[in-house]
Formats: sequence, structure tokens, C-alpha cells
Amino acid sequence: MDHVEDLTTRPFPDDPHSHARPDQVVVRHVSLDLTVDFDTRRLSGLATLDLERSSPDATELVLDTWRLDIAAVTLGDGTHALFELGEHDPVLGSSLTIHVGDADVVVVHYASHPEAQAVQWMEPAQTASGKPLLFTQSEAILARSWIPIQDTPSVRVTYDATMRVPSDLLALMSAENPTERTDDGVYRFAMVQRVPSYLIALAVGDLEFRSLGPRSGVYAEPSVVEAAAWEFADTEEMMAAAERLYGSYDWGRYDLLVLPASFPYGGMENPRLTFVTPTVIAGDRSLVSLVAHELAHSWSGNLVTNATWNDMWLNEGFTVYFETRIDEEVYGEEFATMILQTNRQDLRAWLPGKDERDTWLKLDLAGRDPDQAASPVAYDKGSLFLRMLEQTVGRERFDAFLSAYFARFAFQSMDTETFVAHLRAELLEPAGVSEDDIALEAWVYGPGLPENAPVFDSESFRKAGQEARALEEGAAAAQLDTDGWNTHQWVHFIRALPADLDTARMADLDRAFRLSHSGNGEILEAWFQLAINNDFVLASPETDEALASFLTRQGRLKYIKPLYQLLAASPEGLARAKEIYAGARPGYHPISAGSIDEVLGWP
Ligand code: BES
Ligand code: ZN
Repeated sequence: MDHVEDLTTRPFPDDPHSHARPDQVVVRHVSLDLTVDFDTRRLSGLATLDLERSSPDATELVLDTWRLDIAAVTLGDGTHALFELGEHDPVLGSSLTIHVGDADVVVVHYASHPEAQAVQWMEPAQTASGKPLLFTQSEAILARSWIPIQDTPSVRVTYDATMRVPSDLLALMSAENPTERTDDGVYRFAMVQRVPSYLIALAVGDLEFRSLGPRSGVYAEPSVVEAAAWEFADTEEMMAAAERLYGSYDWGRYDLLVLPASFPYGGMENPRLTFVTPTVIAGDRSLVSLVAHELAHSWSGNLVTNATWNDMWLNEGFTVYFETRIDEEVYGEEFATMILQTNRQDLRAWLPGKDERDTWLKLDLAGRDPDQAASPVAYDKGSLFLRMLEQTVGRERFDAFLSAYFARFAFQSMDTETFVAHLRAELLEPAGVSEDDIALEAWVYGPGLPENAPVFDSESFRKAGQEARALEEGAAAAQLDTDGWNTHQWVHFIRALPADLDTARMADLDRAFRLSHSGNGEILEAWFQLAINNDFVLASPETDEALASFLTRQGRLKYIKPLYQLLAASPEGLARAKEIYAGARPGYHPISAGSIDEVLGWP
């Protein structure tokens, strides 16, 4: 066991995506005092940092920044400190080196750039309430665009904040939160548990609170909050299931914040306050396993944190595994199996043609944007690896191993090498499992999907597959038996349809099932992919219109990026994509816009 202790006390692994030198001087607490100005699109004020020496004689503190305006840096005693900003890199931003001497407090006087990548400033016309709204998204390395900080997941800080916002708006953070507006627009926050920088978050808007249960609730714009409370009614039950599986929930409350539809992700696991896209509010609770996912991050990710973005599978793969276990507890095995099958398909569809090195669990993203780590490899190969381990040693033993892992490494970071050492010592050796038998090396440091990856089978998907075959064999859409299908069956059905369907067959499907007009983003996504591939978007003005509307009214990357990519594959499609994008881009978050700019070669 000694070697494991050694590995885990190696405190700061090299992080290719941060300039910080926590091995010299490390930040332990961040205190923000910021004014939120919607007119100039700036957050400005002070960041006061408490320092600790990792190396006894170190006199320089290195922070990450991204186009921050640094007005001055002072030390605890009020004297000015010398500082230098390094060269700007579009992805990494610039280092801020501060000559701190032996000071243990440093104050950065700064303002964020109006184009800070973490921040979306929304105009009254872009929100449901007609009031301005702002939210941040710090993962993976965007915290540095609004806070001067050691922006690496291997450094954890406690934080407090004073936020000064327009007095008709409510401010929320990934911290202890208010449920009511203050009269003066000044809000004070405290996060007393240590968190990595990517989990610091802020939202400001016309937001209302509804309680869901003793430990949970939901915030949303007033016109959305009722529907949100209905959709997320199972949250307390999910928390109870998660605690039965892997131990107590350590963060106090678990609230949700429903953002406007430009939120670039499905969800973001900001501690105590998960941010979610409104596209999960399908009206039938069919997409709420996303809440199970973000809740699961309260253990995998927020308690035990990937040390660098090359280890992202330790966050996301564990979380998908945990999510599907919560799904099973709350919605039953059949439902969980459908999710597992869909995830496995996603991975299989993604793998072909990829650089082999990008298909290892342990990634090497030096020199690239760490958002690249968020691929089906981290999520789905990662979770399949854990399923394989579970099947090998049995569920009881595996659950005991995971509970002990979360307890032992809580509030620490974890890299792949340390995890593998821990896995050998605490699970494989005691269970008498040899690493060759499970192809350990091939999973972690090898390409593609190893042969011993579990396969799943569900009655529900067999039925959906059967109906797809019936259609292929000539049945009309109206003759198919689709009674009582859930979202996942519909998606499976659409994916199982033959890749080439002529206009008449596509029109028949659309007429029978009104797929272009579905209120469910997952179904729309699968259907529009099929429609683009079969030139049905060009053939049907109605579907073209519906696609344009889908791409314009929401900006969730998972939905928009594959559709733009498919459109961009043909010259006519590319032209149409650019037309749609011209209208949609102003409503997108900087993260989504940046990504689609690349897909379309915009402008
Ligand atoms: N932490 C991620 C979102 C993320 C990953 C942001 C990488 C930035 C970089 C979040 O937990 C997540 O995985 N969201 C998924 C939903 C989930 C159900 C798979 C998403 O946004 O689609
Ligand atoms: Zn996740």
C-alpha cells in the first residue's frame, strides 16, 4: 500500500493546460468582491488570495488569466507588488506572475474582458423574463477568463464572494445560496468545502426558487419554474439512491438552476447548484437521467477530482457508471439498460477514423483545447470499463470498492496512474483477478473498445429494432406498433432505420409520427441527422424550417454540433448551414459559437 500513499501525496502533477506553479506557491482561499455591469459586460473588483508555500523559499506566485485587465496587484500590507503578464495564447490565456516575496495574501485588482469565454451576457430580448441574465461556465479551463486563479483541477480552494448586481436580479453561486432577492443587489456567498477552480460558478438573473424537498429545490426564470419543479420531482429520490450506493452526500443542499436554452451543455455539476439546459424539460420526465448524472458528480468529480484534463475519464466515466446505477435504482433495470445501450452505440459510432491515441482512457492533450477530452471515450469507454470490473468481481465487491474509494480520496485529486495502482491493490489483488484476464493495459493505455467490453440487451430496444426492420421490409409507418414507446426507444428506432431512405419513405415517417415537430431534443437530434443524411431537409421545406428553428432556439453543443457537421458535408448543406448560423449565432454562448465557427469555417 505504501506506493499508493506515495503517489497520492505527489501533490501537483504537471498540468499541460495551466501556467500555475502550485509546487512553488499555492492558493488556498479565494475571496471575490465583484461588481456585475451588464452595460460594459465586465465583472470588476478584487480577488484576494490566501497563499501557502509548497517550496519554502518560493517568492513568485503564478496564476492563469485570459484577457483580464489587471489594474494593480497589492500585498496583504497594502504595498504594491510587481507583476508580469505572459504572452497570450488563445486557448491557455496568459500567465500572471506576481512577485509576492514572503507575503501570504495578495490582492488582484482587475476586470474581465467583455468577451470572456466563461461568461454569457444575455440581453433582455434573449431571456424568458425580459430581464438581463448572466451565467458562467468554468469547466474545463475558462475560470481564468473571470477570475485570476491557479486554473488546474489539481488545486482546490475554499471561496467566499461579495457580488454586486442590479437590484432587480438574484445572484447565485456554487455555494450557499439565497432564495430571495436583497433590496440593494449585494449578495454574500461562502463555499467552505475545497473545490477546484472549474467548479466556481455564478448566475445572475430574474430567478425564482421552488422547493423540491428537504434538501433540494430548483431555480429558474418565473415562467419556467413550475414546469421545472414538475420535471425534476424525483430529485430527492435520486439523492437517496445515490447515498445508498456510495455514501453520504457531503455538500449540504442540492439545487438545480435551469438556464436559458443557449446553455452550451446538458448540465454542469457546479457544487450545491447544478446548472441545466431547459431542453431536458420535455414535459414527461423522460430526460431526467441528466440530473442523476450531475448529482453523481457530487462524488465522482467534485469529491474525487481528475488531476488533469488528460484524466477526464475519472470524472466522466465514473459519473456515467454511477448515473446508470441511480437510473436502475429509481427507474428500474430495463430503463438503465436502454441508457447503457445508447451510450455504447454512441461510442461505437464515434470511434472509426479517430487518432488511436485519442481513444485511450488516459489522454494526451498537451497543446490542444482540453474540451477535446469530453468525448465518448471518457464517458462511455470509461463507464464500460467500470461495468466490466463490476461484472468481473461482482456487484457487491465493486460497490464496496467504490464507496471506499470516494471516502478515502474525498477532496483530493486523482490521476490515472494512481487510480490504477489503487485498483490493483484494493480490488484486483484481493479478488484474485489478474490484470491480463481483464486486459487492464488495453483499456487504459490502448485504443478502441477492448473485446471484453460488456454488451447489453433490452426487450424495449428489441421491439424498437423490430419495427425498424418491418419498415425496411416495406411496412408503412402507420402500420408499425409504437404504442407506449419512451424517448429512448424512439431514438433507438430512428438510429436503427436504414441509412438510405427515399423522400417518400421519410415523408411517410414524418407524417405518421410528426418527428420534425417532436418536443423532445433527443428525438429531434436523431431525426434531423437521418433527415440531413437522406437529403430530406433539402426536399421538405417543413423539415428544413423545423431544423432551422431547432438550431436557433437552443445552443446545446451536443445537439447543434453534429447537425452543423452533417450539413457542412455537402456544398448545398454548408450554404444552408451558414444561412441558419448567421441568424442563430448572436443567441449562442461563446463556447458554442467558438465551436461552430470552426465547423463552418466562419465567417
Ligand atoms: N461536466 C460535464 C460538462 C462538461 C464537460 C463541461 C467537459 C465542459 C467540459 C457534465 O457533467 C456533462 O457531462 N454533461 C453532459 C450531460 C450528461 C448526461 C452526459 C452534457 O452536457 O451533455
Ligand atoms: Zn458529466
